[in-house]
Amino acid sequence: SKGTYPFYMLKEIDEQPIVMRRLVKKYTNDRGEVELPKPLLAALKAADRLYIVAAGTSYHAGLVGKGLFEKLAGVPTEVHLASEFGYNQPLLSEKPLFIFLTQSGETADIRQVLVKVKAQGYPTLTITNVLSSTLAREADYQLGLYAGPEIAVASTKAYTAQVAVEALIAQGLGEAKNHREAEAFDVVHQLGLAAAGQQALIDQKDAIHDWATDLFSQSRNAFFIGRGTDYDVSLEAALKLKEISYVQAEGFAAGELKHGTIALIEQDTPVVAFISDPKTAAHTRSNADEIAARGAKVLRIATESQSSEEDQLVVDDIDPMLAPLLMIIPGQLLAYFTSFDRGYDVDRPRNLAKSVTVE
Ligand code: F6R
Repeated sequence: SKGTYPFYMLKEIDEQPIVMRRLVKKYTNDRGEVELPKPLLAALKAADRLYIVAAGTSYHAGLVGKGLFEKLAGVPTEVHLASEFGYNQPLLSEKPLFIFLTQSGETADIRQVLVKVKAQGYPTLTITNVLSSTLAREADYQLGLYAGPEIAVASTKAYTAQVAVEALIAQGLGEAKNHREAEAFDVVHQLGLAAAGQQALIDQKDAIHDWATDLFSQSRNAFFIGRGTDYDVSLEAALKLKEISYVQAEGFAAGELKHGTIALIEQDTPVVAFISDPKTAAHTRSNADEIAARGAKVLRIATESQSSEEDQLVVDDIDPMLAPLLMIIPGQLLAYFTSFDRGYDVDRPRNLAKSVTVE
């Protein structure tokens, strides 16, 4: 039940810190080491390339997973939209392993890919919130998201659970391969930081509500910008705003603005800039300044170590690979309050179904 919450979406946003802590318990032993099922670990070690196949929000979580698998486990990783992959299969490596990321486990676009790659004899792993689902049953291996039922059509806690599970698998695989980056990384500590940082953001709901009103109440379009994982977050934050508030929103790689997109900026165009990565923070900041100078209303969200006085929202520090676990919280809340203020049915946006069982 949604208890005292007006909508499930807000309840599910609030549950994310609990889900982070639950995943650490599910995937690590009491020495804090990641434990993956032995046959799955062997299949992952044998793979020369991972292919993540997903749709919508789960695809956006897959984009973050690519960085985690490549850095922590040293395995090249591709991320594909299921609806594209099935009918235009790319050239595959010699020993691919397929990862299907799906909250519901029932998405038809993903199932058609699973059927095709199984027929070619490739190993398959489904990561899902519903372990009794079709995609979980039909894959060789399955891992849970343990986010609890997600009722709102707009996916929130499943996204952060997917990112966290990808981090846990990447760390487990990296350690099994004695990969230096994995040995230097402490996934349990990082997910603890994520849980605490998420809570700190959730506690600032009222301020985020005010920014949602200020930025989006009068506008028909909006932009989200960032680089690296902040770009991945930009895509997801834009999807959230589109699907529940019907504002035309786009996520852009901040460095691409000057290559054309900046032509869209007008007086009071709302732009949200995510700034978490020390490698690129200065560049994204100057992109944000450039569009502010052209009249855009810019909301800057930065991690503490990268923050400056002009930032409206400061987020706890975390490894940039996992910054989406924090950065997406204001993205989710901005979308929620925009939809709520417009009087929409936040949990059941028009034209959308919770699981998409047709291709
Ligand atoms: C967005 C949303 C959809 C789903 C997509 C995939 O908030 O909910 O974009 O993410 O339909 O669904 P699953 O993960 O169930 O395969």
